[in-house]
Amino acid sequence: MKMIRRKLGLSELEVSPLALGCWQFAGGDYWGERTESSQVELVSAALDLGINFFDTAPAYGDGESERVLGVALKGRRDKAIVATKVSSVIHSADDIVKSCEESLRLLQMDFVDLLQIHWPARELPREEIAAAIGGLQKSGKVRAFGVCNYGPKDLADLLGTGLPIVSNQLPYSLLSRAIEYEILPLCRKHGISVFPYSPLLQGLLTGRWRKPDEVPIPRARTRHFRGNRPQSRHGEEGCESETFAALDAIRPIAESKAISMSDLAIAWVAAQEGVSSVIFGAGDRTQLEANIKALDVKFDESTLKALDEATAAVKAHLGANPDLWMGESRYR
Ligand SMILES: NC(=O)c1ccc[n+]([C@@H]2O[C@H](COP(=O)([O-])OP(=O)(O)OC[C@H]3O[C@@H](n4cnc5c(N)ncnc54)[C@H](OP(=O)(O)O)[C@@H]3O)[C@@H](O)[C@H]2O)c1
Repeated sequence: MKMIRRKLGLSELEVSPLALGCWQFAGGDYWGERTESSQVELVSAALDLGINFFDTAPAYGDGESERVLGVALKGRRDKAIVATKVSSVIHSADDIVKSCEESLRLLQMDFVDLLQIHWPARELPREEIAAAIGGLQKSGKVRAFGVCNYGPKDLADLLGTGLPIVSNQLPYSLLSRAIEYEILPLCRKHGISVFPYSPLLQGLLTGRWRKPDEVPIPRARTRHFRGNRPQSRHGEEGCESETFAALDAIRPIAESKAISMSDLAIAWVAAQEGVSSVIFGAGDRTQLEANIKALDVKFDESTLKALDEATAAVKAHLGANPDLWMGESRYR
């Protein structure tokens, strides 16, 4: 199946507007047990449906997600744009190189298309980051460089090294719009593609849970939920009533367009200026096929206005902190 391609930032990478997130391949408490064969089948189906962009990380199941993606892309590597990240524990430039080499080993690949810093590495001098990434690009192990979870100050700081940054992976959905305040306009200004994650807020925007207590524990850790829920780390009061009121307002908007809430939610993120590709997760092939229909959704001004109004109270409550999980923002 054909799917259009878009340039990722100022790079040469031509990516599908939807990217398959591979955190789910790690299974475990968060995503539930998954077999390797079902994930291999999912990647194969994604390629057949026109998706060429895959996002993984060493942190996802301690390398398990990278390993499974490597198995899944055997024989079809040339059809894929593979994005991974640098391990969350980096203390030196050498750690960046070692992390990338371990990713290549697990992925069984000679190079990755996009290497991203997973969370800002502030303890490391920016020149060391630039030197390590420059070296990896020179050796052909990395085609392009991106960051994740970089706020305005961190981004400006790293841009100061002259290192080309093609993308910034950030949380963005109808229920997590904090990046609209500052970082999204800044990325647009610098030609850096915003590469949004959690467009469905880990399933909430599919409408499958009608009340806060129905949401599985690990997914009720975000700042939308009460801070005294199990596993929560943000310590805030949350905005459960605003969040579920927003879902109740979004549902009829989707119905009026005869589309699913998931498609509406993914399409809304994909339609934002500065976004080249949206990373979504899928539990199985049925969800994958359903989510791809988001590409057919077109918006008119009145729908965009209705969605803005439906989600304004959540946006106002959560404020300019894009951190989904921590009240004391990890963004600078
Ligand atoms: N850089 C970062 O810090 C960061 C952080 C988070 C995520 N990410 C990346 O972004 C990717 C996607 O984000 P995400 O997984 O957090 O969130 P998401 O795409 O918002 O949600 C994915 C989950 O929603 C459910 N779902 C998806 N489509 C559905 C449908 N049509 N009907 C019903 N349920 C559906 C599935 O849950 P079930 O599996 O339970 O069915 C799926 O696993 C990750 O895989 C990862 O690659 C990056």
